[in-house]
Amino acid sequence: MTNTPDLSSPEIKRPSKDTVYAEHQVEVAPFEFNGEVAEVFDDMILRSVPGYALSIELIRLIAQRYGQNNTQLYDLGCSSGVATRALAEATPAHCAIIGIDNSPAMITRCQQSIATDAAHHKIELRCEDLLNCELSNASVIVLNYTLQFLPMAERDRLMAKIYSALIPGGVVFLAEKVIETDPKLQSELTALHLAFKRRQGYSDLEIAQKRAALEAVLVPETEQQHLARLHSAGFEQSATLQRAINFLAMVGWKRAA
Ligand SMILES: C[S@@+](CC[C@H](N)C(=O)[O-])C[C@H]1O[C@@H](n2cnc3c(N)ncnc32)[C@H](O)[C@@H]1O
Repeated sequence: MTNTPDLSSPEIKRPSKDTVYAEHQVEVAPFEFNGEVAEVFDDMILRSVPGYALSIELIRLIAQRYGQNNTQLYDLGCSSGVATRALAEATPAHCAIIGIDNSPAMITRCQQSIATDAAHHKIELRCEDLLNCELSNASVIVLNYTLQFLPMAERDRLMAKIYSALIPGGVVFLAEKVIETDPKLQSELTALHLAFKRRQGYSDLEIAQKRAALEAVLVPETEQQHLARLHSAGFEQSATLQRAINFLAMVGWKRAA
């Protein structure tokens, strides 16, 4: 049993321990990215999302390979800024990194987290809804476990906006929790994810209450739905780069000029 999160990524600072669902709650309210969650978010995501540290490493590699001078790199749903900082550190000097989140508590947390970073001068944070925000002149756009929180009816429109904001040769990085259409396979993956969370030190009560809170807030889709959406939005090629149980990271490439 290990309670120690993987801190091998330099962007992941030692976080406060997540105990949000540790005590019994008479009624579990729908999950929100509020102050209580923002405070412990880095620990929560590391202990809940298998492969999270690798997704940050992939974001760094994508930024190194595709980030271009005089363009913008966006981190959509930036939360506490772990991916934002990876983008800032991995890119050439003349890039702007823009982190967007509609949770004021998360933006405050992100401001605190980037304040001491060498590359923080490149970062601009915006407290905005992704459904209304302006995106332009982008070489890289990251959605690291964010799209799953948007209303299903808005996801195609957001992906189309991302595609049109990217310059030729630009890429979108999309990580998501996914579901399977085969119920038996889905139930095996759910059991493995549960076992992962137990190994990370979460109790059965915490796991059950968090699951109830996320019901109807985090709405996952299949890998095929995601790849089909990338294709429909116009991405010339797409691929799954990483899979850890039911957590996937995909990339879509916009055709170069
Ligand atoms: C699971 S977290 C993303 C984790 C983060 N990308 C990372 O790598 O650590 C999802 C984030 O998306 C934000 N979010 C959800 N819906 C949003 C919306 N409509 N507009 C802007 N941000 C949104 C939430 O506030 C939350 O911070």
